[in-house]
Amino acid sequence: MDVCAKGRRRRWRRSWTTLCLTFVTLLAIVPPSFEAQWLGERAFRELSLAQIQHLVDSPDSAKNLDTSDPSSHLSKILIPRVADTENNTLVKNYIATTLKNLDWHVEEDTFTDMTPYGEKRFTNIIATKDPDAARRVVVAAHFDSKFFSTYPMNQFLGATDSAMPCALMLDLAEALNPLLDRRKEQHEQDKFDDDDLADTTLQLVFFDGEEAFKDWTATDSVYGARHLATRWSSTYLHPNSNRRLMPSTTELSTIEHLILLDLLGAKNPTIQNYFLDTAWLFDAMASSERRLARAGVFAGVSETDNNWRSFFTPRNEYTQNYGYIEDDHIPFMKLGVSILHIIASPFPRVWHTIKDDASALDMETMHRWNMIMRVFMCEYLGLQPDDRPSTVVRAFDELPLRSTEL
Ligand SMILES: *[C@@H]1O[C@H](CO)[C@@H](O)[C@H](O)[C@H]1NC(C)=O
Ligand SMILES: [Zn+2]
Repeated sequence: MDVCAKGRRRRWRRSWTTLCLTFVTLLAIVPPSFEAQWLGERAFRELSLAQIQHLVDSPDSAKNLDTSDPSSHLSKILIPRVADTENNTLVKNYIATTLKNLDWHVEEDTFTDMTPYGEKRFTNIIATKDPDAARRVVVAAHFDSKFFSTYPMNQFLGATDSAMPCALMLDLAEALNPLLDRRKEQHEQDKFDDDDLADTTLQLVFFDGEEAFKDWTATDSVYGARHLATRWSSTYLHPNSNRRLMPSTTELSTIEHLILLDLLGAKNPTIQNYFLDTAWLFDAMASSERRLARAGVFAGVSETDNNWRSFFTPRNEYTQNYGYIEDDHIPFMKLGVSILHIIASPFPRVWHTIKDDASALDMETMHRWNMIMRVFMCEYLGLQPDDRPSTVVRAFDELPLRSTEL
């Protein structure tokens, strides 16, 4: 993530009216089932308390983010990894191998582009659980780190920016993989009754070249995202009756939502909603967090405690706010993809300083993010974790869910 030289300024969304008009037009011409599937809100199947507890305990939801363990996913990613360097390739290979080992379809999208330092080579990683699925929900983050020419800044690690979100995505793939397999099995045996959901797979995109080499401009930033959005918008797909889409279907139009994670892992983040059309998804994520708090899985903090603080800013305070922060979602947003941008704002204090290293990360915060994403994505995809009592006994195990909702 980056902003222009003037600092943490939010750009105003110039095309808002255009987008609104497009949105209304689409609503008018598509049949109701399509509308419900694509543009509107749909009911999430909330996990039970027992399922939530099982999901956060198995597999262990802290281990992949442990920077004191040199073999954790996060430690493997947390090295300087500027685009078109050996270390960038090492991290790229680590991410790709981890996902290939889960039997995901992994594509390396390699291309070159001009930068202020000449032509550079970039590679996005696209990992898909089921490449034959009609649609997908994309969770994304950038895996490159920012280039600085001189010592000590050339040792910049980008722990929050965005090593931690990348490690979280690998954890998400591992945790959800058996549940996605089970959903498929049950659908094949007619035991999973939602055909639309069964046709939606999970795709993880690790963008390269998000960072500007010099100052953030339209042509010196989000290299990987610009390349991929353009490519997908001009890749036409064969007809597929399950897509329920208009005849000329592009790769881009089979994305239900792009959920972009950035600048996460530092203590006390504040997350705001930027887009009205995905406000319901924002609320659903906040609801996942709240129910996790109720389940008593956030170390020592429960929803009823005085020190409870949600990561998410309640939406009603910001209903006038159509501003957004420039990031990898922009090229996709411009092409009409529905976006949920999960980014700490204000940015972590260490942003683009040498201090954005392991010491900037807070274990409890990272652990909470990991649990939120597991629950949220399970509910999005209609996955059903076990509700057997987990092996870990918690003080709040007997606490019933309260009927009051968000
Ligand atoms: C590559 O990563 C290693 C850590 O594994 C680090 O010591 C080294 O400085 C990095 N190389 C560059 C060019 O940043
Ligand atoms: Zn950055």
